[in-house]
Amino acid sequence: MNVVLLGPPGAGKGTQARRLAERFGIPQIATGDILREAMASGSELGRRAKSYYDRGDLVPDEIMLEVVAERLRQPDAARGFVLDGFPRTVPQAEGLDRLLDGMGRSLQAVLLFEVPRDALVRRLSGRWVCRASGHVFHELYSPPQVPGRCDHDGSELVQREDDRPETVERRLEVYARQTAPLVEYYRARGLLHTVDASADPEEVGRRVEAALRQAGVL
Ligand code: AP5
Repeated sequence: MNVVLLGPPGAGKGTQARRLAERFGIPQIATGDILREAMASGSELGRRAKSYYDRGDLVPDEIMLEVVAERLRQPDAARGFVLDGFPRTVPQAEGLDRLLDGMGRSLQAVLLFEVPRDALVRRLSGRWVCRASGHVFHELYSPPQVPGRCDHDGSELVQREDDRPETVERRLEVYARQTAPLVEYYRARGLLHTVDASADPEEVGRRVEAALRQAGVL
């Protein structure tokens, strides 16, 4: 399964990518998670990415392509992958095509998650993530059993720096300008499948699997 989940901030890409990864035993490759880990560890990648990330801007394409190239070469990605948050620009999509081509592989489907803008803002403003391993909750839609604590490892739940209202506005603008052109890019290649992702996570999960069946991936 070589698939990409595409959609605006808060559309639920991470939530569904994690489900697919668990269910099908393939890695979720989330470039946002990779950057957050790099920033937390203070690595060279984290230092290069931080100012872009904090503003809600995209990290430069050449940096992201290097990150993804290295991740796709790991043995666990040999059987497939769910890309979450990458590609995000046309040059990234072209770079991914070249990279997969060089590995004798190709994308099978790109799922576009559609959610109305007001719901995106509600999802992002109520998101809480665990400090230890990034498990994701929502104060209304998927609340933790104990407020402020992760169900999986008991660690503290925090809000993401880039979920502040002004940064969310910027991320939505950046999506419209730099990422939305990928819809046509993948439609033209016959890879695009639209998922109405405005329902609850279980129903969206069923729609994702239906779209993958329609695409011939399942
Ligand atoms: P990244 O971490 O990729 O953020 P994003 O794309 O903005 O997406 P989010 O993680 O905010 O949302 P999501 O769609 O995964 O939703 P989630 O499942 O969490 O990127 C962050 C930054 O890193 C970028 O701004 C950029 O600076 C940089 N970056 C990353 N990749 C890059 C790249 N390729 N190139 C350049 N820069 C890059 O759900 C959101 C909330 O809603 C959660 O609380 C969840 O519980 C809840 N929820 C999920 N599904 C549902 C549902 N169906 N109903 C109700 N609530 C739901």
